[in-house]
Parts: sequence; C-alpha cells; structure tokens
Amino acid sequence: MSLLRLEQVSKHYGGLVANEDISFAVEAGEIVGLIGPNGAGKTTLFNCIAGYTAPSSGAIWLGEKALAGLPPERCAALGVARTFQIARTFTSMTALENVMVAALLKTHRLALARQRARHWLDFTGLAHLGDTPAASLTTSEQRRLAVARALALEPLLLLLDEVMAGLNPTEVQRAAEVVQKIRDAGIACLVVEHVLEGIMPIANRIVVLDYGRKLAEGSPEAIANDPQVIAAYLGA
Ligand SMILES: Nc1ncnc2c1ncn2[C@@H]1O[C@H](COP(=O)(O)OP(=O)(O)OP(=O)(O)O)[C@@H](O)[C@H]1O
Ligand SMILES: [Mg+2]
Repeated sequence: MSLLRLEQVSKHYGGLVANEDISFAVEAGEIVGLIGPNGAGKTTLFNCIAGYTAPSSGAIWLGEKALAGLPPERCAALGVARTFQIARTFTSMTALENVMVAALLKTHRLALARQRARHWLDFTGLAHLGDTPAASLTTSEQRRLAVARALALEPLLLLLDEVMAGLNPTEVQRAAEVVQKIRDAGIACLVVEHVLEGIMPIANRIVVLDYGRKLAEGSPEAIANDPQVIAAYLGA
C-alpha cells in the first residue's frame, strides 16, 4: 500500500480550476518532486493534502486513512506535516522556541519538548542557533527552521513548499542534503520546487503540473527530456 495516494483530486474556486483530476502516489522512503509553472496548482494540492482546504472531489489516502476534508490538526496527527511557501515563523521567539511550539503538539512535557526541539535543530544544522531570535536568522536558516518545526510533528510524510527559493547554490546544496537526510530517516518527502538543480538530483520521481492538471510523471531523467514538459515549463 502506498504511503500517500491521490485519486482524481480536483479543487475549484468558483470557475477557477486550481487542481483537476490529479492522481499519483508517494511511497514510503521516497522523495517525489512536484514541479510546474507559477499558478499550476502545486500549493493548492499541498493545501488539500494537509487539510488546509477540502478538495472539490477526489480522494486522498494516507495508508488506509482518508484525508480529504479533515482539518489540518487531524492530518498532522495522522502523519502529514508541511512547510509554507510564505514563512510562518514566530519572529519574536528564539529558533529553539519555534521548534518547541511544534514539539509541544506531540508531548505536554516541557523538558521532553525542549530535548526533541534541540534534536531537530541539530538535524537541520541549526544547533548553534537555538538561542537566536528567529527574526535574526538568514533566509536559508529560516527555511531550515521551518523544516525543523515540521519535523517536530514527527510526520510520516513531509510536504516542502519551495524551501530552496532564493538560496545561493551552496545553500541549495545543503538544503538538498537535509531533504535526503529526512528521507534516510524514513520520512517520505513531497517537494514543491522551482529550483530544479536542488530537486532533480535527489528525487526518486517527478510529477509535473500544468494548468492544474498532471502533465507528466517519471524519473528526473525522463522528465528532463519530455518534450511536453520542456514546452510547458523547462524551456529548451
Ligand atoms: N484561496 C484561493 N482562492 C481562489 N483562487 C485560488 C486560491 N488559492 C489558489 N488559487 C488559484 O489557484 C491557482 C493555483 O495556485 P497555486 O498557488 O496552487 O499555484 P502554485 O503552483 O503553487 O504556484 P507558484 O509556483 O506561483 O507558487 C492560481 O490560479 C491561484 O490564483
Ligand atoms: Mg505555490
């Protein structure tokens, strides 16, 4: 059984078709890239999977649990965590406190939450910044903090929405290493990304959206050479 399975998921906003008839699966232990032009419906699909909006039709399965229409906290409790395209950092708190807020959703013991938060900061390469106010972190550090917060929910599936945007090549490389480390820890990753040099080398599979529909699905190599994908998104 797949970890995540989407069956003909559609999301319409009035007459606007944000997602139409999208089906694909993510297996445990996989990194799947979700790519496509601006407005293709990538974030909307994340919102459907994580419970931030209900699909207009279709089914979303996490193992044998139906996710579609559940609220975010239920999806999170079942094992889906996400980051947001627009950061939702608590800027007046330290980095450690930001992760503790998430860890406290899994335990009410403060000392344990602090210990787990330290673990995820360390995991994402932020151990030395625990006491730093989140507002003082660089863009790259803030992205990793968002990932650490999502990991503190102890998910089975992590949805990453453009965590590599605006990073320099070295930072992209490090972010890609963190995503691989997450997969190696047994957490499947569905990764929305425009930074293709970050996602293509590490993804097991790529799903391409265009105008709300699935345009293609395949290995990074197959996708990079797919004439339809080149025409719609990659360019020559
Ligand atoms: N809450 C909403 N109400 C109305 N329309 C929406 C809403 N959310 C998204 N849309 C529309 O749905 C379409 C898909 O948007 P979405 O944000 O999912 O695209 P995206 O692939 O994430 O784009 P980007 O790469 O720019 O982040 C767009 O036309 C957008 O304007
Ligand atoms: Mg988006």
